[in-house]
Amino acid sequence: MNRRIFLTGAAAAAGTAANTPKLAVEGGTPVREKALHADFFGTQYYGDEESRELNDVVKTRRPFRWYGPGNEPPMKVATFEKEFARRMQSRYALAVTSGSAALQTAVAAFGIGPGDEVILPAWTWHSCFVAIVLAGALPVFAEIDESFNIDPSELESKITPQTKLIMAVHLQGNPADMDRILDIAKRHNIRALEDCAQSVGASYKGRPVGSLGDIGIYSLQINKTITSGEGGAVVTNDPLLFERASRYHDLGNLRPLHEKVVGGAKSDAFSGSQFRMSEFTGGVLVAQLRKLDIIVESVRANARRVYDGIRDLPGIKLRHLPDPAGEIGSAVFLGFDGKDRCERFRAAMKAENVPVDHPGGSAILPIQPFVEHKRTVHTAWPSFTSERGRAIQYGAACCPRTIDILSRFAGPSLDPKYSASDTADIVTAIRKVYPQIT
Ligand SMILES: Cc1ncc(COP(=O)(O)O)c(C=O)c1O
Repeated sequence: MNRRIFLTGAAAAAGTAANTPKLAVEGGTPVREKALHADFFGTQYYGDEESRELNDVVKTRRPFRWYGPGNEPPMKVATFEKEFARRMQSRYALAVTSGSAALQTAVAAFGIGPGDEVILPAWTWHSCFVAIVLAGALPVFAEIDESFNIDPSELESKITPQTKLIMAVHLQGNPADMDRILDIAKRHNIRALEDCAQSVGASYKGRPVGSLGDIGIYSLQINKTITSGEGGAVVTNDPLLFERASRYHDLGNLRPLHEKVVGGAKSDAFSGSQFRMSEFTGGVLVAQLRKLDIIVESVRANARRVYDGIRDLPGIKLRHLPDPAGEIGSAVFLGFDGKDRCERFRAAMKAENVPVDHPGGSAILPIQPFVEHKRTVHTAWPSFTSERGRAIQYGAACCPRTIDILSRFAGPSLDPKYSASDTADIVTAIRKVYPQIT
């Protein structure tokens, strides 16, 4: 580790090193005695509400999800779908077993398959790439920008006559630049999918993420805003997309409740999957959904305190936020002009017991071996057997800017239950360390 940390910024401004606190990494007193640690959000809010919902399922002895006709308590998943659609300002919501299942369901609802291309960011979760490949379509990567989301200025150069879909992924609580993405999608007659797995409860210009594109998907897995351990949801305003999604999440059939919701079947059955949610999961999610706004407001308020406390530092560069008011604030990221300086910042902050990390929760997909080498369950998989599929090159060469950006940003994760003194420690540590790192 390079420990050459020079005194600059605050020290220079003060005209003397005497007023500059000695960094813990150089033997000074750390800002905190014990390391700050952000926990999972949703489970910290588990309480009697979740227990009551689960108990209802046990008492009725009906853990298999209810799909109508008529009423048959406990109807937890149906209640979750109704309340989730309302919260996400979408006409329809479909509960599924995971965010990955939601992605596969959405891709199937769009009717995407062999010969089609889907654009996705080079930095996102494996499930995005997997959903495209499992449909037999071809994933095409675009670089991210300093929001860590897909760079809209990259999109047009990636579009071909085969492009059917853009995956706009709202990563680590930060909505992507939807105005620009939707404008491009519309001009080229391409569908837009919003992957809100990491941003459940975020909004873009006043609208919940997921409600802006053709379909929105969410993950309700353990480290998401609200959680049932595993779980997912799909939303849309389009009745045919909802019908196809509902068919796909089951075995191609359309159950009475969803048939009623869309006002009658408009398409034929096809081979589906089996991504049905259980009533136990639905029960926990009903309770968690009713706490979503409290969780988001709390973590957002904590992030605002950190932003407000560091914004005036000379030369500071923060992660780009296309809509600062809509960001959840699950982490606050500072940018550096080089990777080494960022690593020195990380080491110094760790010593202060206020650890910071590079952006997380995703992978640089083009450099994952299964991606780079186009590995599939069968050698004749349609994604990569076409001329274009054989020619496309993944690997580091297709995303140098993404790799560079992620290596130059780092910051603390935020927790909705952090106290004012915890966020004050984050501010104190950044104000102490940042000006001394060069
Ligand atoms: C961006 C993104 N999309 C999709 C998923 C898949 O969600 P799940 O883990 O619920 O399958 C994740 C999970 O972390 C994710 O981060």
